[in-house]
Amino acid sequence: MDTLKLETAGRGLAPSLAVKTKCVMEDEILRLKGEATAALGEAGKEDLEPFRVKYLGRKGLFTSVMRQLGSAPAADRPRLGKLANDIKQELTQAFAARQEELGAGRGQGTATRLDLSLPGRVLPRGRLHPVTQVMAEVCAIFEGLGFTVAEGPDVETDFYNFEALNIPPHHPARDMHDTFYVSDALLLRTHTSPMQIRAMEREQPPLRMIAPGKVYRCDSDITHTPMFHQVEGFLVDRQVSFADLKGVLSVFIARMFDADTAIRFRPSFFPFTEPSAEVDIGCVMCGGKGCRVCKQTGWLEILGAGLIDPAVFAKVGYDPEAYSGFAFGLGIERIAMLKYGINDIRLYYENDLRFLSQF
Ligand code: PHE
Repeated sequence: MDTLKLETAGRGLAPSLAVKTKCVMEDEILRLKGEATAALGEAGKEDLEPFRVKYLGRKGLFTSVMRQLGSAPAADRPRLGKLANDIKQELTQAFAARQEELGAGRGQGTATRLDLSLPGRVLPRGRLHPVTQVMAEVCAIFEGLGFTVAEGPDVETDFYNFEALNIPPHHPARDMHDTFYVSDALLLRTHTSPMQIRAMEREQPPLRMIAPGKVYRCDSDITHTPMFHQVEGFLVDRQVSFADLKGVLSVFIARMFDADTAIRFRPSFFPFTEPSAEVDIGCVMCGGKGCRVCKQTGWLEILGAGLIDPAVFAKVGYDPEAYSGFAFGLGIERIAMLKYGINDIRLYYENDLRFLSQF
């Protein structure tokens, strides 16, 4: 009968073990109390935090005792739990009193003081890189004129970057396009013009597209970085003339800069356009009077353009008798420099927030 009673109390534990568990627990709790009280009595200011961690912390001895209560006989659990809780509370109070006594309470040490009246920390707001902003602006203007956007690979074949654009292997134009080769026939594109070829191979006229992206050249000084951004634009249809090119670029420049910005088309040469032109705008710094930025000329070069050379149409299988078109390529960094009055292209890529946060 005895055995049976104990078994009920100990919920299936062997009687001797049940009794032992109860006693051991209670002894342990009381011993812990004695030990902690003594330790607290002797604690100096610098012992307080280690004390708190050891006895009262989340991984402290009292927490671990409470956890072990799960294995105590069910009948004893409430009483033991209350005992442990009361002691923990008592110790917490004693701890606070001791803190007070030693002048180490919350609000007394500067490290732990919480000042609710302090203003919150302001998180700096991110923004788009100036090159990204200008790129988006350029694309938006051309999209407004009905151009669609196409993107292509940065690693390009010799065929698309040169050959199909009427730049054969030993053509002097390759000098200006010294680049980084992946292999003999694979390179980092030196301009976005290869996208003209990729688009024309894929689609039949009429065609009205822009191709924004990164381009690469072996160049590095205050006006050149080895990587920069271009937007290529091209339009192919029947009876496209130089007047159409002028019209589109005039609208673009008026929207990108001021409506009354002066424009000048200067004869030039590109192997893939005929005739070709460099397009200048009246200097945005001095208004055309002549300054250091425009090298006293009053003009700033902003893009290359021309009518697509019939030799290029031949490469993609368009009938040069039936179709004509224009193409242009503009440098984004350069346009952003002129728009914002930036005098060193390298500033874009130094990641200095004092520079970047101005845009
Ligand atoms: N691809 C030329 C360059 O990067 C620019 C250009 C594009 C010129 C289209 C004419 C027509 O220098």
